Amino acid sequence: MLTDKLARVSIAHLPTPLESLPRLTAQLGGPELWIKRDDQTGLATGGNKARKLEFLVADALAQGADTLITAGAAQSNHARQTAAAAAKFGLACRLVLRGEEPPQMQGNLLLDRMVGAEVVWVGARPLTEAMSQVAEELQAAGRRPYVVPYGGSNPIGASGYVAAMEELLAQCAERGLHFDHIVHPSSSGGTQAGLVVGARALEYTGRILGISVDQQAGVLQRRLADLAMATSEHLGLGLTFAPEDFAVEDGYLGGGYGVLGDLERAAIRTLARSEGVLLDPVYTGRAFGGLLDMIRHSAFRPGERVLFWHTGGTAGLFGYGDEVL
Ligand SMILES: Cc1ncc(COP(=O)(O)O)c(C=O)c1O
Repeated sequence: MLTDKLARVSIAHLPTPLESLPRLTAQLGGPELWIKRDDQTGLATGGNKARKLEFLVADALAQGADTLITAGAAQSNHARQTAAAAAKFGLACRLVLRGEEPPQMQGNLLLDRMVGAEVVWVGARPLTEAMSQVAEELQAAGRRPYVVPYGGSNPIGASGYVAAMEELLAQCAERGLHFDHIVHPSSSGGTQAGLVVGARALEYTGRILGISVDQQAGVLQRRLADLAMATSEHLGLGLTFAPEDFAVEDGYLGGGYGVLGDLERAAIRTLARSEGVLLDPVYTGRAFGGLLDMIRHSAFRPGERVLFWHTGGTAGLFGYGDEVL
């Protein structure tokens, strides 16, 4: 395996299911739609960060850490999964969250508290700076903090998605399947960078399309190239990447990060009512909405097979109340 030499702990339920979406495919009149269920990774309601955390927590333990620190939005799925992973390995957890404490604990925030994380609200302060300050305070108090970067997206975390690509291609080989396109939400970049590194190393010939949730394509493509280069180096693969190697669609940014619009609402409703599969309002709802719009505009050829990589966010669905209906 490409990631065999890296330290890794077991967190996620793997391999995640690979399922067809026959009712939705028939409803739309093609292409043939499939889904990779990383919402079922099993860590306190699942999601893509469980794969990254298998490598990040192993690194933290190797460094003798006693506390994980990470950052995100109030409804961060990454923060919730990091907090749950800390609990599983007997580590303390401090979450640096943007904004002010809301009056009600819902969705991810409720689960953060349930698994025992301490939350530090930092208003509009830059998250990286606030995380460093929390780390310094803990160090001064004699603790051993480990900072998990925003979104778990460094070469260690992205290696989780190199392994995920290998897992998918093994499932495809076993079942005689080939996907012409893989579509998924993209934000801090670890998922897409990891998938693309894995794809190049394993000679996957389909297209991997990241639907940007919060950034212009050019900005995200540059970040993806840097992260993929560093991930390849971390794994000793000797591959090189340029921004053009990453397919990114930024036409679905809507009202901005976390702003639920008609695109997301309709996508959540469509998949729930055709296949009984739940999406989240921030990431997968937006990306699946983009995919449905592209299908309506004939972006795929008849007979092509398209995989939607479901990256999770189930808990986020319960952070928006009946706004999602
Ligand atoms: C549910 C969900 N999907 C997708 C993403 C984006 O993944 P990445 O940050 O690796 O680009 C996130 C990140 O927080 C997420 O929580």
